[in-house]
Formats: sequence, C-alpha cells, structure tokens
Amino acid sequence: MNISVIGTGYVGLVTGACFAEFGINVTCVDKDAAKIEALERGEIPIFEPGLEEIVRRNARAGRLHFTTDTGSAVKDSLVVFIAVPTPPQPDGATDLSYVDSVARAIGSHLDGYKVVVTKSTVPVRTAERVRAGITEAARASGKDSVTCSVCSNPEFLREGSAVEDFLRPDRVVIGADDEQAIAILKDLYKPLNLIEVPFVVTSVAAAEMIKHASNAFLATKITFINEIANLCEKVGADVHDVARAMGLDGRIGRKFLHPGPGYGGSCFPKDTLSLVSFSEELGVEQRVVSAVIEANEFQRRRMVEKIEAMTGGIEGRTLAVLGLSFKPNTDDVRLSPAIDVIRLLQERGASVRAYDPQAMERAAAELENVVFASDAYDAARGADALILATEWNEFRRLDLARIHEALREPVIVDMRNIYEPPEMERLGFRYAGVGR
Ligand code: UDX
Ligand code: UDX
Repeated sequence: MNISVIGTGYVGLVTGACFAEFGINVTCVDKDAAKIEALERGEIPIFEPGLEEIVRRNARAGRLHFTTDTGSAVKDSLVVFIAVPTPPQPDGATDLSYVDSVARAIGSHLDGYKVVVTKSTVPVRTAERVRAGITEAARASGKDSVTCSVCSNPEFLREGSAVEDFLRPDRVVIGADDEQAIAILKDLYKPLNLIEVPFVVTSVAAAEMIKHASNAFLATKITFINEIANLCEKVGADVHDVARAMGLDGRIGRKFLHPGPGYGGSCFPKDTLSLVSFSEELGVEQRVVSAVIEANEFQRRRMVEKIEAMTGGIEGRTLAVLGLSFKPNTDDVRLSPAIDVIRLLQERGASVRAYDPQAMERAAAELENVVFASDAYDAARGADALILATEWNEFRRLDLARIHEALREPVIVDMRNIYEPPEMERLGFRYAGVGR
C-alpha cells in the first residue's frame, strides 16, 4: 500500500518513518524544500531518539521517500495523513489555515478513492471542514464526484520517546464513519496485532474528542500535583511521598504526577487552549481546563519567586540555567518552561548563562542576551545560583562538588526535583526543590 504524510515535523516524520518500518511504502511531504533536501541526504532535522536509524534504514530499503510535491504524493497514495501544524491564535482558537490549505491541495489532486486522515490535533468537527475543503477544491478543478473518506487517527506520541510510542502504543484510535476506511486503517496498523494493542474504533467526532480529553486530563493531573506541591511546601510534607501513595491507588495511577515548573511543549499548552475555545463556541464552558491553564501559567511565576527567595533578589545576579528544551530527550523548545523562566528572570534584571545537551541552537533563536555554555560546569562558573530547568539524565550524574566550586554562591533551585534535599545539604548547598 502507498501512503503519504503531509507535514514532516516531530509528528509527521515519526509517523511516516514508523509506517515504513511496518513495511508500507511512505512518501513524506513538506513545503520546506531545505528540510526535504536534508532528509534525502539522510540528515534528520530534529533530535528524537531512534528516529535517525529508522529513517535511514527505510529510506535505504526504498520504502520511505521525501518530496515537496503534494500533488504527486496524493495521486500515488491510497491514504493521506495530515500532520501540519495547528497553532493557537492569540485568542486561543486553533489556526486551521495549514490544514485548510492541505485539504484544498488534496482536493485539487484527487483521482479516485482516498482515505484522508487528520493526525494533527484539531478541534472537533475539523474532519467535516476538511471534507468541505476537499470537495470544493475538487469541484473547482473540474471533478464532480468526490470519493474520499475523512477520518481521525490522533497521535499520542511523547517527544523524546515518540518512536517507541508509535511502535508500542497503549491504544490506536480510529475515528471513521465507513467500513472501507476502517478496514484500510486497521490494515495499516496490522503489525500491532502481534503485540495485542487495543484498537478503539469510533465515530470521527469521538476520536477528535478522545485526543483532546486525554491531553486535557494529563495536563490537569500535572497541574493538580503542582498545586498540591505548593501546599506541601507550606505544611512541610514531601510531595513525592504524597504522589507515590496517591499513585498506588489504581484509580489514580502513578504517571504524570511529577511536580515542576508547569507543563510546556507543542501540545498541552495549545490543546488545552483549543479545547476551551471550541467548547465556548459550542456554548459549553470548560471550568476545570480553564483553571488548569491559569494555574499552569502561575506555576512559572512561582518558580521565579522561589529563585528570588533563594538568591535574596534576582536583579543584578548571574544565574546558571541547566536544560532548555521543554522536557528531556528532545531539542524542542516550544513553550518550554525553561525559556519562559529565563525571560522572566531577565525581565527582573538577571544575566543568564545556560546549557542544554541538544536544544541550544533552537533556544538561541528564541532568547536574547543569554550566554550559552559548553557544559554544566561552564554554565555554573561564577553564577550566583544554579537553576535546574529540564531533567536531562546527564544532570543527574553531575559532579556536584565541582558545581559547588564553580558557583559563586552554593545555591541550587531544582525545578524538576532530580536531587535529594538531605544529600544537597550534606554537600553544602542551599537547595530548594518543588513541594519538598
Ligand atoms: C504538528 C502540529 O503542530 C500539531 O498540532 C499536531 O498535533 C501534530 O502535527 P509537529 O509535528 O510538532 O506538530 O509540527 P512541526 O514540527 O512544526 O512540523 C510541521 C511540518 O509541517 C513542518 O515541517 C512544516 O514545514 C510542514 N508544513 C506546514 C507543510 O508541509 N505544509 C504546510 O502547509 C504547513
Ligand atoms: C504530549 C502527550 O503526552 C502525548 O500523548 C501527545 O498527545 C503529545 O503531547 P509531549 O508534549 O511530547 O506529549 O510530552 P509529555 O511527556 O506529555 O510532557 C509534556 C509536559 O508536561 C512537559 O513539559 C513535561 O515536563 C511536563 N510534565 C509531564 C510534568 O511537568 N510532570 C509530569 O508528571 C509529566
């Protein structure tokens, strides 16, 4: 079977490469010619563990192709995945212009039956909009009868473990309103039957909702533990004890109860805003998720207050920040807590020295007046405090005596709780974590 994936970013490239790994013939399309040329040379534009290997292997095997030509990719494919950005507009509503333009492109190149699938996270009822866009463009280019199914197959890929999440998912959600499309999509994911992955086949609207409800719930879980952590600090309880014991209750579950500077990244922030926005349009208020968004923003400011308290004033200080990506194992800095906190610190008059194993190049495009260091020790050199912003593994194994020596003041604010408070005290640091 030939398929194509339009949009070759964090989601599209992983999706295309992993389907090729399943033995399917895949064409990845992107409007960015430089990106496509790089991919053709075997260069991967993002840092995602395991991705380079499967891209190269499948490209070499002739199953994975790259092009800027949407028309030919659509013509040659039975299934077309849409994986272009769906960014938020200033009012929180989703900007669907990229999705619309892809729908028009598909419509004008339609020749026979196709299954068109939204992979991007989109507001509910976007499939209807995609169908309308395809139909209109098809008519405008002289095709009267349009034969296509528009489906929703949301991704649940965590950056940093996206390949693993694709190849070993908790579930595959297929939202489709006709049997033919369901059969084709199930066939694409057939290798997952071997590992008994559950398939959830639903209406298109339910599939679109599943994605939003899942992300909003996870964002809520994180925000909930952050607020409990804030309370733990006041009462002298360790939030890790609280979270661990909560998580042992099967109804609650252990995951996503790790406190920190608030969630970031390209999904939770925009998807929660989108859910609130399209709910409002439909006349339904989302009070919980609205509160989550507000509390998450507040958490960034709380981190800055913590730093203020630990340094005795941010103005004029030099602060070392370790970690810039929104989470470890990715170079993605979109809505990264580290970047937000750095901006707030700079507004209050701090100078920042920063280090990240993978994300410095992307961070440099977002930040001004930051000194990028060659490693953690270099970042700490002469700083008035060290701020652990992203929990890369290499920061867990630092030689803390060397860090102590490098710092002007032995202060550590650990926004991810990777160090143990008693150990830090023993090493002579003034240390603050979150909720401990
Ligand atoms: C995207 C969406 O942002 C997200 O909402 C959705 O859940 C999954 O897809 P991501 O893969 O992280 O997420 O985006 P990004 O890494 O920015 O990649 C998008 C790619 O699409 C870029 O390479 C861009 O050049 C390409 N693109 C964009 C097109 O090919 N055509 C367009 O019209 C717009
Ligand atoms: C998320 C979803 O998990 C995934 O299923 C898909 O829908 C895309 O969006 P991603 O944004 O890549 O994935 O990363 P994730 O691991 O979910 O983390 C998101 C943010 O929450 C990060 O900033 C992370 O640091 C933060 N987080 C996560 C916490 O602060 N505490 C936690 O316990 C878990």
